[in-house]
Amino acid sequence: MAKKKLNVAMVGAQFMGKTHSNAWRKVGMFFDIPVEPVMKVLCGKTPDDFANAQRWGWEEISEDYKEVVHRPDVDVVDICTPNFLHAPVAIEAAKAGKHIICEKPLANTLSEAKAMLGAVQKAGVKHMCGFSYRYAPAVQTIKNMMAKGELGAIFHVRATYQQDWIADPNFPMVWRLKKKHTGSGALGDIGAHIVDLCQFLVGEVEEVSGTLQTFIKKRPIADSDTGISGKKGAKRSKKMGIVDVDDAAIFVARLKGANTLATFEATRFAPGRRNYNRIEIYGSKGSVIWNQEEMNVFQYYNCADPET
Ligand SMILES: NC(=O)c1ccc[n+]([C@@H]2O[C@H](COP(=O)([O-])OP(=O)(O)OC[C@H]3O[C@@H](n4cnc5c(N)ncnc54)[C@H](O)[C@@H]3O)[C@@H](O)[C@H]2O)c1
Repeated sequence: MAKKKLNVAMVGAQFMGKTHSNAWRKVGMFFDIPVEPVMKVLCGKTPDDFANAQRWGWEEISEDYKEVVHRPDVDVVDICTPNFLHAPVAIEAAKAGKHIICEKPLANTLSEAKAMLGAVQKAGVKHMCGFSYRYAPAVQTIKNMMAKGELGAIFHVRATYQQDWIADPNFPMVWRLKKKHTGSGALGDIGAHIVDLCQFLVGEVEEVSGTLQTFIKKRPIADSDTGISGKKGAKRSKKMGIVDVDDAAIFVARLKGANTLATFEATRFAPGRRNYNRIEIYGSKGSVIWNQEEMNVFQYYNCADPET
């Protein structure tokens, strides 16, 4: 029997836009989903955003997300824009009765996030945030072990997310370095992933204490501020822009209703670390360590079988 079609509108069309396009195109080939996604419309802002629209499989393009989210032939809105647009696009889409997938970090502030939640609850639509690492097969295996209590009572979570892509002081100002556009720096961008992994695998953070640091406070302004590493070939001017978000965040936490301490480190200033997203979980029956740079491997220590 033919599956019901699910018409998708995606807003934002560069780094994550490419990744999500790939996922929408292939998801039905590998997962037994109850609908058939149709890549209806790609919404962007610049000519570059539309350069690959056809190649990726989008039927139409648009520069106006407000028009797109209200289209009667759109069922789900997938938000892959810089962070400051997550709340306005999601709230507008919820008002139009569309289901929503929104990239992390969910919002720039807690009040924006609460407004987004209120809007989707009022509209009664499905909604989710793009915490992609939850679905790494090794993370899913650890999740199953946790559900069966195989690590026992958890004493410690130790999570680090280290990158080095802006350690060079000549790296230009991109939107990820401007508070107005990004909300926070390493904290929201990569810290969000390790907090999510901790909450997904072990439990909710209840108390937190930490500190932030901005190592390089001014950077050259370039003629494009999109992309994770600045647009290739973007011209840099002699003018400098102010970095008003954190380059690194370090914090400790207690988890809710549990006897568990957690430590977190998120930094873009760890030379040699490209995408070192690592979580260690230590419990009364054993421990596990996963590092996304070797994503299909994890270490397991079983207290009942210390030889293995
Ligand atoms: N889940 C993950 O692992 C992961 C990884 C990278 C990025 N992200 C998240 O994805 C989001 C996008 O990041 P990115 O790296 O793709 O950024 P990017 O700079 O590569 O792309 C942003 C896109 O949004 C478009 N855009 C900006 N304003 C717009 C508007 N008004 N209307 C329509 N389009 C507009 C830009 O033109 C560009 O196409 C961010 O929230 C980021 O935190 C998630």
